[in-house]
Amino acid sequence: MHRDDRARLSLLSLILLNLVLCSTAFAEDDRRGSKAHEDLRPFANASRLIAEGRDAFRFDTFGDEAFWGGRLRLHEALAEVPPSTALAVGLKLDVQSLPRGLRRGLKRGLIDLDDPAVTAALLELNAVVGVTGFFEGEDLVSVGVQCALCHSTVDDSFAPGIGRRLDGWANRDLDVGTIISLAPDLSAFGGPLGVSDDDVRAVVRSWGPGKFDASLLLDGKAFREDGKPGAVLIPPAFGLAGVNLHTWTGWGSVSHWNALVANLEMGGQGTFIDKRLDDAERFPIAAREGASETRPEVDRVSPKLAALQLYQLALEAPKPPRHSFDRRAAKRGKALFSGQANCASCHVAPLFTEPGHNLHTPEEIGIDSFQADRSPTGAYRTSPLRGLWTHEKGGYYHDGRFATLLEVVEHYNDFFALDLNPEQQSDVVEYLKSL
Ligand code: HEC
Ligand code: HEC
Repeated sequence: MHRDDRARLSLLSLILLNLVLCSTAFAEDDRRGSKAHEDLRPFANASRLIAEGRDAFRFDTFGDEAFWGGRLRLHEALAEVPPSTALAVGLKLDVQSLPRGLRRGLKRGLIDLDDPAVTAALLELNAVVGVTGFFEGEDLVSVGVQCALCHSTVDDSFAPGIGRRLDGWANRDLDVGTIISLAPDLSAFGGPLGVSDDDVRAVVRSWGPGKFDASLLLDGKAFREDGKPGAVLIPPAFGLAGVNLHTWTGWGSVSHWNALVANLEMGGQGTFIDKRLDDAERFPIAAREGASETRPEVDRVSPKLAALQLYQLALEAPKPPRHSFDRRAAKRGKALFSGQANCASCHVAPLFTEPGHNLHTPEEIGIDSFQADRSPTGAYRTSPLRGLWTHEKGGYYHDGRFATLLEVVEHYNDFFALDLNPEQQSDVVEYLKSL
């Protein structure tokens, strides 16, 4: 049975269980019955919120079509992009939204994936994960994006890039920068940054797949001192329950970041307040643009925050495939992780981050402070490590500076002088792959 079906089935059984328990309780005794009913209310509430949150995560644009369509006019570019190109820049297709006839056509190679009209048709079917087209008659007149654009992928069960949704998985194929660069009007970025559209194009094209720079419109720091792009990797949005601070640099809770992203990054229409953005030294652009407080007449974000948060917290990190790591080596690696390698001093199981305050200065983990300095915290957050196997592409650490898990372990081995021999290092890697 598929993940989604299983989730639906367990939701259904939970609701049925609620009904059965409620009705038996009522039958037993009126007073005790209503007590039992109240005890069960949180479960029903959670199921409802999780369902609402999934809808918002997958389909809600929060009104951001006013930004992506209205200002960037991205739909004009998308109308000329054939599906083959859309797939090549990492956009994913949800096979469950494709009608049977279309699936058959695709399987038999009867659908022309080099025809831009097919892209519009796919948008009309709501099949492009994280992207919503708005139509007047046949014409694509605007476009909006969702959380799922960056934080969902598909299982490729139908074809590469086409399959069932995997919510919470970082889409490390997605080249957001290239997609943005196609927009005819980039003044929404160029204006606040005080640069031309062409300069914006050069910046966003430097990001590469799986990366996005959420701080660009806050501080205008497009490049690091070494000339590398300031963009960071898209992290998973699963396995976050129990984790204190979120984002690579610990900006705040899941809900804080969801509100920031929906309003300031996606261009959704909602209320957002974070006075830390008035710090003109750290956030010159945000401070000048008054980003620390947005209060549109209609708030389309705040009413969704509770549901969005609950949905993300309910997304478990997926278990690694059976034969994807060496079990015996992983067992030895586990012992090293909390022993000689001392990883567990920060990555505490089962959360794999600190239960408590989970931030570290750049010096404490032996890296530069560029990205930490772009956050109000000035620090890096201990990454929760579950499901590492789902985001190998793009590498590890916030900017992907370590191409493999072995490089991560080698870094710690040098920096903390752990004295792990090559075999022990590879055991730790096998353990990381098992999480
Ligand atoms: C354009 C791509 C993009 C979109 C759209 C997007 N995100 Fe993100 N998300 C990112 C990136 C990149 C980061 C890392 C930011 C950082 O650490 O500076 C991130 C970080 C996060 C985190 C922190 C995860 C952790 O490890 O603690 C959460 C939670 C999250 N996003 C949820 C959402 C939600 C919910 C939405 C929709 C409201 C959303 N994101 C929309 C790219 C995106
Ligand atoms: C002093 C605390 C600390 C210790 C000790 C530590 N880590 Fe980390 N770890 C962090 C922080 C902070 C980050 C986030 C770095 C960043 O954002 O660039 C991190 C990131 C990682 C990542 C990258 C996760 C990702 O999603 O890219 C891996 C893998 C990892 N650590 C494994 C280990 C292993 C294995 C050890 C032991 C050899 C270890 N860590 C020891 C704090 C620590």
